[in-house]
Amino acid sequence: MTFQKNILCIGAGYVGGPSMAMIACKCPQYQITVVDIDPKRIAAWNSDTLPIYEPGLDEIVKEVRGRNLFFSTQIEQGIQKADIIFVSVNTPTKTFGAGAGMAADLQYWERTALQIREVSQSPKIIVEKSTLPVKTALAMERILTATDNGVRFDVLSNPEFMAEGTGVRDLESPDRVLIGSRETPEGLRARDELVEIYANWVPRERIITSNIWSSELSKLVSNAFLAQRISSINAISSLCERTDADVTEVARAVGMDHRLGDKFLNASIGFGGSCFKKDILNLVYLCRQYGLDEVADYWEGVVRINDYQKERFILNMLGAMFNTLAGKRICLFGFAFKADTGDTRESPAISVSRRLVEERAELVITDPQALPNAERDLADIREGISFVEDPCEAAAGCDAIAVITEWDLYASLEFKKIYETMRKPAFIFDGRNILDHESLFRIGFNVFPIGKPPLTHF
Ligand SMILES: NC(=O)c1ccc[n+]([C@@H]2O[C@H](COP(=O)([O-])OP(=O)(O)OC[C@H]3O[C@@H](n4cnc5c(N)ncnc54)[C@H](O)[C@@H]3O)[C@@H](O)[C@H]2O)c1
Repeated sequence: MTFQKNILCIGAGYVGGPSMAMIACKCPQYQITVVDIDPKRIAAWNSDTLPIYEPGLDEIVKEVRGRNLFFSTQIEQGIQKADIIFVSVNTPTKTFGAGAGMAADLQYWERTALQIREVSQSPKIIVEKSTLPVKTALAMERILTATDNGVRFDVLSNPEFMAEGTGVRDLESPDRVLIGSRETPEGLRARDELVEIYANWVPRERIITSNIWSSELSKLVSNAFLAQRISSINAISSLCERTDADVTEVARAVGMDHRLGDKFLNASIGFGGSCFKKDILNLVYLCRQYGLDEVADYWEGVVRINDYQKERFILNMLGAMFNTLAGKRICLFGFAFKADTGDTRESPAISVSRRLVEERAELVITDPQALPNAERDLADIREGISFVEDPCEAAAGCDAIAVITEWDLYASLEFKKIYETMRKPAFIFDGRNILDHESLFRIGFNVFPIGKPPLTHF
């Protein structure tokens, strides 16, 4: 069968895999190949156990894999054949040199740009899907045209807005698809080609276009605004705990103002995930580079409050459990950075675990999807930590349960039975406010929610 377009995606991660599976599913007329430098990841995409857990993804991949979606390690061949290349390699925070701890590390991205230039023999549209600092497209254009091999490249920005855990739904029915291009005739032609792909399933009014710099910046700003809402309500949660106000009631009252809306107003232990922190720090770094220190300080505060919230959680535990955690057994309910994913990158669970071990507590960690990642994240302090899949078994013999991830299953456990197997006094620290605190208190637990008065028996 001949396909209308040959699409390549470089980077088979949390974004590349699901987003290309969705295009393949909605556009059987296109051939899509996803390549990666990591052969293990590609082998997993070609197996029955996909490398990432995302509700609904298995079904889609099974439907399209081998039909018009292919996973491969043959990057050069893929580049040569492709008309359109999505680049969705990782862009983590730099850990060395200038901008360490703040700026985006663009080494993976640059390697890709060089490779595209080296092996291309026909014109290509290059689509930035990774989240990148504003003006990266200019650097991409400069690399691609640095040697004149007569091949035309048009660079577009098409940031991905899907969220892990709801990735399939977000990709199938996105709030918007954003495509940024140069405003030259060639740039606009390339933009129209990408619009045509999404128009196969996304309503035309949800496909928005902009200049390429606005598009790059919009992704950073979008994540900064989302994280800012979490830090805003978390900052208020600490005030609620001091004043006997209830953060859930405050959030409800605030969120019913239609100008604000009710999303992202759940107080919690703090945000995690591979993107929020890195993208805000990236924004902060950009602002500092342009001499906008006040603006940089403003956004940096979002990350500072998030760190404060995690430390506050530990200090609350310490205070409630008579100022010592040494030798106490604490069970973490959840390790993933959010529900419905196995991803633990930047999960609050990591810093909470490290702090608890520092306080000489013994840890039992349970999570329905994230235990292999948890074991890797804590490999250096693994001694004294147990990993147990069943939450009831995990809690047995513990002094406290700390809810870290908002998995639905935790709200429906038989806490009466769990209470009986725990040491007394038994504590619950609900870092996500997902449990029924009154009923836990009636069972006998001392309950410490976020941003509400604790319910204690002493
Ligand atoms: N994870 C999310 O929810 C999410 C959402 C929106 C945007 N993003 C952005 O998308 C980008 C990718 O994120 P991710 O979570 O999918 O990362 P990831 O680490 O899961 O995947 C990136 C993949 O790229 C591969 N890779 C790196 N260099 C390569 C090269 N030169 N050639 C081929 N493959 C290469 C890696 O091996 C890896 O498998 C990042 O910029 C991120 O900020 C992520």
